[in-house]
Amino acid sequence: MNFSLPEGLALTDAQRHVAERASDFAATRLAPAAAGYDAEGATGAHPFPDATLRAMAAEGLLGINISPEFGGRGAGAVGYAVAVRALASACAATTVGLMVSNMVAEAIATYGDAEQHAAWLPRITAGAFSTAGFSLSEPGSGSDAGGLKTVAVRQADGGYVLDGTKSWVTSGGHAGLYLVMASTDAAARTRGISAFLVAADAPGLSVGKSEEKLGQHASTTTQLILDGCHVAADRRLGPEGIGFKIAMSSLDGGRIGVSAQACGIATAALGHLRAHADAHPEHRATVDQCAAELEAAWRLCLRAAWMKDRRQRFTREAAMTKLYCTETAGRICERTVRALGRAGLTAPVEKLLRDARITRIYEGTSEIQRLVIAREVLRAG
Ligand code: CAA
Repeated sequence: MNFSLPEGLALTDAQRHVAERASDFAATRLAPAAAGYDAEGATGAHPFPDATLRAMAAEGLLGINISPEFGGRGAGAVGYAVAVRALASACAATTVGLMVSNMVAEAIATYGDAEQHAAWLPRITAGAFSTAGFSLSEPGSGSDAGGLKTVAVRQADGGYVLDGTKSWVTSGGHAGLYLVMASTDAAARTRGISAFLVAADAPGLSVGKSEEKLGQHASTTTQLILDGCHVAADRRLGPEGIGFKIAMSSLDGGRIGVSAQACGIATAALGHLRAHADAHPEHRATVDQCAAELEAAWRLCLRAAWMKDRRQRFTREAAMTKLYCTETAGRICERTVRALGRAGLTAPVEKLLRDARITRIYEGTSEIQRLVIAREVLRAG
């Protein structure tokens, strides 16, 4: 199978295995279902692909970068990127549920203690619940994530009571576990934010407004309402005050996933463009341009993943790949629609254009990626 790897980058056995499972799953399960998910979701019913995500868990795809000791594949960030690209080329919306589960599992693996590893990782990787959720944004704080207002007040029993409203939560209403960032010390701003593992059935947690979106209809996006939500002391992830770092480092890894997802959408669009250009030679130059840009985007994605696997600092590279891959996917989808004319405005091509748009927004807008890149470049001198 061809995973478009640059010369010199070979997949390990674990990475090849996960990439092949993802590629087969994309072809046999996701591609035939994607249009149905999209159309039913567009009517407002928002069907959620629970069964499909649990089937992905059975393939080991909800813990791609998690140790086999906890049911994961141990395939690292490169294996993760290759798998996400393959899956997203078939259904980007189902893939984002998988991406957030992997991100939350990695946060638990990195910052959790032995009890938290044993309690949560095998459940996520085995699909005990179809997805996990990541809850940082609020109605008044999206890009300025450090301005969040949700509070977590410590109780006499060592636990916490959480109050506030979170927004833009991927898989909201379907996730079995949410990683929630809340302030334990408002005066300390980002150094006063802590991270909590909040089970979906926690008393005081409810699902608020569900958003009607431009694309990715198979994925829900909701508010979460925390109203006197009590969480036990063992549900705090890491020490008090490191929640913002947990969120930011999780998003560094998540941005590699969004990059790979965008490359997957662009791969699908390029497939339509190539087929069209076979019969319409005047569009061959557009194929050349798109293929070159997609190759450059994919190499940036693999570079960030490769650095992550080597435990090098990759914040700058994650922002660069997120910016370039998602902007490139948008351009490739737009050019494909333009080249195909009326056919580009109908299924399956129009869906790709819609699904690509949010990749430039979630897990940090393009403007935020530019800000992170500038800071990192200036810091390096
Ligand atoms: N890794 C580890 N720590 C980091 C970090 C990183 N990548 N980036 C910052 N930090 C640390 C800093 O070192 C600093 O620590 P100290 O106080 O100890 O020095 C602390 O965090 C604060 O950093 P900043 O001063 O840089 O923070 P800031 O308030 O200026 O914000 C920002 C920086 C980059 C703009 C940040 O707010 C940001 O990334 N915003 C975008 C948020 C985002 O991507 N949201 C998406 C939400 S998830 C989603 O889309 C939906 C979903 O369901 C997945």
